[in-house]
Amino acid sequence: MYINFWYPMLRSEDLAAGKPEKVKVLGLNFAVFRDNDGVARTLSDTCTHRGGSLAGAWQLGERPRIVDGCIVCPYHGWEFSGESGECTNIPSIGYGTKPPARAKVDSYPTVEKYGIVFAFLGDLPEEERPPLIEVKEWDNPKWRANSVLVLDVPFHYERSMENGIDPAHNEFVHPTHGLSAIHRDTYKVRDHDVVEGDQSLGIMFKHRYAAPGLGHNETYKSVSSEAPAQDIYAGTETYGPAAMITQIEPSSNMMFRQYFIEAPVDENRTRIFFVNMRNFLLDPKHDGAIHARNKVIAQQDIETLSGVYPLRTPSNTKEVHMPADKAVVGYREWLQKWDDKGWRIDWNTYKMREAGGETAFTIPSPGRRTAGNWVLETVPLFKNHAERMKAESKR
Ligand code: FES
Ligand SMILES: [Fe+2]
Repeated sequence: MYINFWYPMLRSEDLAAGKPEKVKVLGLNFAVFRDNDGVARTLSDTCTHRGGSLAGAWQLGERPRIVDGCIVCPYHGWEFSGESGECTNIPSIGYGTKPPARAKVDSYPTVEKYGIVFAFLGDLPEEERPPLIEVKEWDNPKWRANSVLVLDVPFHYERSMENGIDPAHNEFVHPTHGLSAIHRDTYKVRDHDVVEGDQSLGIMFKHRYAAPGLGHNETYKSVSSEAPAQDIYAGTETYGPAAMITQIEPSSNMMFRQYFIEAPVDENRTRIFFVNMRNFLLDPKHDGAIHARNKVIAQQDIETLSGVYPLRTPSNTKEVHMPADKAVVGYREWLQKWDDKGWRIDWNTYKMREAGGETAFTIPSPGRRTAGNWVLETVPLFKNHAERMKAESKR
């Protein structure tokens, strides 16, 4: 798991005014809330006073939890600015008395886009941040988005990403994909290219199917049974460590773009935010059927991946790879670049220290680059890939 990426925290529709939500990402809790203008904010959830949960249980009924853009800690009422994380009021010393600067909590850049609240969980200044994933079709009236589908899955996000760029699983995991039956005497994985971009790595198929019927997927067959033979583009590219984009293009007027934007909850759980764009069947009345279809396909992946062992991706030498695993291996190599930036969380050290029960951790926020004197410790990180390998070889 890496810091310094825009992670999806929750759907916009799930963040009500005046009601903070406690969200776990990268194994740590965050308080996400709307300030009095409705702007989404993200703070580290742990209060610097005595460790109260800023978004935790609230006993005061109708009394507001958000006051002047600040979240009120439910334990002793300290108030923290959603924008800066500064403590603005400490009731025990009197409202209006200036709190010590050290009482601040980490605050994370937050934006709301594509029906999702994203937080930048890391300390990079704005100009150095990897950009938020772009849903290119979002504002195009020729495309339609389904409401965001949230999938909670019991496996590490790297397993999910690797599955997305794995060209050899479709015929086995998805009965209606690719060749709907395996012919032992003729079958081989479909030809594909491994493509690499700035923030990405992926696989792309170009395939020609004969008419009638595209034979690619039942859904397409039903809408284009008269379609002539044509090239089909399909493939998936990763974006950063924890997002990917699948392109399915049976014809120029029948395309899907599927964005899987993943939040690593911890090392064993992932919350996937799935944005589905389509340029056909634009009438909203088709949303339900497409949603249902996507869920069926996703469930097939989830059921298969729920059984993989170990939970985290092992080193390449602990698996047997074939040419069809080239993109998977490429993704692992791509992540090494992020290791070398010093952004990978040293999970085992973190968990060991946390188990001691006396230290609260958080993710470093951009404010730590410009000011010192912070109360919470930041999560341990590997300095580089070599350090990670050394630690993992000892396990
Ligand atoms: S623990 Fe938050 S105000 Fe005391
Ligand atoms: Fe799949």
